[in-house]
Amino acid sequence: MIEYLSEIKEKALLEIKAAEDLQALDVIRVQYLSKKGEVSLMMGKLKDLPQDQRPSFGQKVNETKIAVEKALFEKKTDLENIELLKVLESEKIDVTLPGYQFYQGSIHPLNQVIEDVEDLFVGLGYEVAEGPELENDYYNFEMMNLAKDHPARAMQDSFYVDENTLLRTHTSPVQARTMLEKKGEPLRIICPGKVYRRDDDDPTHSHQFMQIEGLVIDKHVNFANLKDALLKMVKHLFGHERIIRLRPSYFPFTEPSVEVDVSYVKKDGSIGYIEVLGAGQVHPNVLKMGGYDPEIFQGFAFGIGVERIAILKYNIDDIRHFYMNDLRFLGQFKGVGK
Ligand code: DAH
Repeated sequence: MIEYLSEIKEKALLEIKAAEDLQALDVIRVQYLSKKGEVSLMMGKLKDLPQDQRPSFGQKVNETKIAVEKALFEKKTDLENIELLKVLESEKIDVTLPGYQFYQGSIHPLNQVIEDVEDLFVGLGYEVAEGPELENDYYNFEMMNLAKDHPARAMQDSFYVDENTLLRTHTSPVQARTMLEKKGEPLRIICPGKVYRRDDDDPTHSHQFMQIEGLVIDKHVNFANLKDALLKMVKHLFGHERIIRLRPSYFPFTEPSVEVDVSYVKKDGSIGYIEVLGAGQVHPNVLKMGGYDPEIFQGFAFGIGVERIAILKYNIDDIRHFYMNDLRFLGQFKGVGK
């Protein structure tokens, strides 16, 4: 019996040693240690032995059981380690591999110009105001001193939804809306936004484009303050070496009115000027309609075309490039505004 027991032990230990994976090991465990396993069955043989041999045989069976359990445990640990290594190996991350390249978009050049102008004026204490693109005739024209039969309306034909509602032709109506909102309080705002004109599209015209309006109303605002603001804007946008030239002009909502040109160096080295925006001191009628007493308050205003700035700044030959969503064009402006 004792011999048979040690044979079982030898056999079990050999099988355990040879087991290739955890499943095989479990089969061995069942074969020897389960209730009907070979080692357990030996325990059942106790009763067939003479009384005096039972304790020592029982002890041997127990020792065998413990030896098999120990071998199983050790082998299990080994196999688990091997398996863990395999997993670690197969899931290893190669940190030297180049990462995925995701396409990175960029801010549209027109929005870069707007953000750039906002940056400057917010720093000077201006608020950014907005108004609706679908506008009343009243705000778009009448509040801007363009009565129903005013001839200057002809230059700003638009898209009408009904007789009194149109796609705004400029951002100037935001002046009127803000004045009424501020109820006679001093104000300084800029308002960027889309505007519309009935125009045939070509390299320099678009039926839809963008403007940034500026308006300051306070006591003792004079023409020098306007010139200062314009010069700051031009230098901020185009560089500190630039200067501006003001030419008398006409807008119904400002008096006096000016057209603003910015200097540039021509190919032959001489100085040239390009028109960039319109501006002026707010017309007393506009102040009155907006709820400000022109005897106490003065103001200045300006309106600048966003596309025009971008065209000059980045040397663009066709305004329609801005609206085509062609990534070959847009991709050239990555990081330009930073
Ligand atoms: N609203 C004018 C336009 O679209 C631009 C303009 C000129 C705005 C003079 C102003 C200004 O505020 O003072 O042509």
